[in-house]
Amino acid sequence: MRSAVVDVRGLRVDLDDRPVLHGVDLQVVEGEVVTLLGANGSGKSTLVRTVVGLVPSVAGEVRLFGTPLRSFHDWWRVGYVPQRTTAAGGVPATVREVVAAGRLARRKLFRPARKADRAAVDHAIELVGLSDQANRSVANLSGGQQQRVLIARAAASEPDLMVLDEPNAGVDKRSQEAFARALRTFVASGRTVLLVLHEMGPLAPLVDRGVVLDGGHVVHDGPLPTPSMTLTGPPDHHDDHREDYGAGLFG
Ligand SMILES: Nc1ncnc2c1ncn2[C@@H]1O[C@H](COP(=O)(O)OP(=O)(O)O)[C@@H](O)[C@H]1O
Ligand SMILES: [Mg+2]
Repeated sequence: MRSAVVDVRGLRVDLDDRPVLHGVDLQVVEGEVVTLLGANGSGKSTLVRTVVGLVPSVAGEVRLFGTPLRSFHDWWRVGYVPQRTTAAGGVPATVREVVAAGRLARRKLFRPARKADRAAVDHAIELVGLSDQANRSVANLSGGQQQRVLIARAAASEPDLMVLDEPNAGVDKRSQEAFARALRTFVASGRTVLLVLHEMGPLAPLVDRGVVLDGGHVVHDGPLPTPSMTLTGPPDHHDDHREDYGAGLFG
């Protein structure tokens, strides 16, 4: 039997003293691609944020690779791409610099980058199809390309588990396709993926199972509805939309 990479049991999370997750169970085994679906506000982001240790729980247990979260230290094994962030943040970092930051979890303190680190960074950039942009400033990329930089940053530590929160929301089609290719490569090497999706889109053929949240409860866990079906409302944020669909951004 394949081992559980993510094992969530009876998870209860409160935010601002209000219950947001009411006893959630979620298991993802090695090599599986599981998607979390549900309307805005159903608790998807809270669940993945709790899984990666960013939000404390009130009750229940989270295990990563069989280890309870409180004693888990191998964070390089987990690549996390949060919902709606910009890699730019006003700092004129290049694609390569941002992706290299994702390699830090692998490095010994204060040691300079080794050849293997540089190779892993190059590989992660190639994975998301941005090799020809590697020395460009992230600030000058489209929203979709910036999202791919964040995915490459998460991939640079060569994690065994990738957790992605709406990686395709407000992202142009070309970036969505590049992401689907990257995910296929990642999964082909036997690694595990938990991703929040607004709609299945080009990722549908890659997904093994869907878990649907409604009001902080799991209401479905199993094979997916038809790929074209959208189970969620509109994505939370459209800020990047105009930029993504703007003319000439991809040269
Ligand atoms: N930082 C926060 N403080 C208080 N409530 C929050 C916070 N973040 C989210 N919530 C609430 O928790 C619920 C679940 O939110 P979230 O996990 O972001 O849902 P989803 O990702 O499915 O849209 C929502 O009702 C939301 O308003
Ligand atoms: Mg969310």
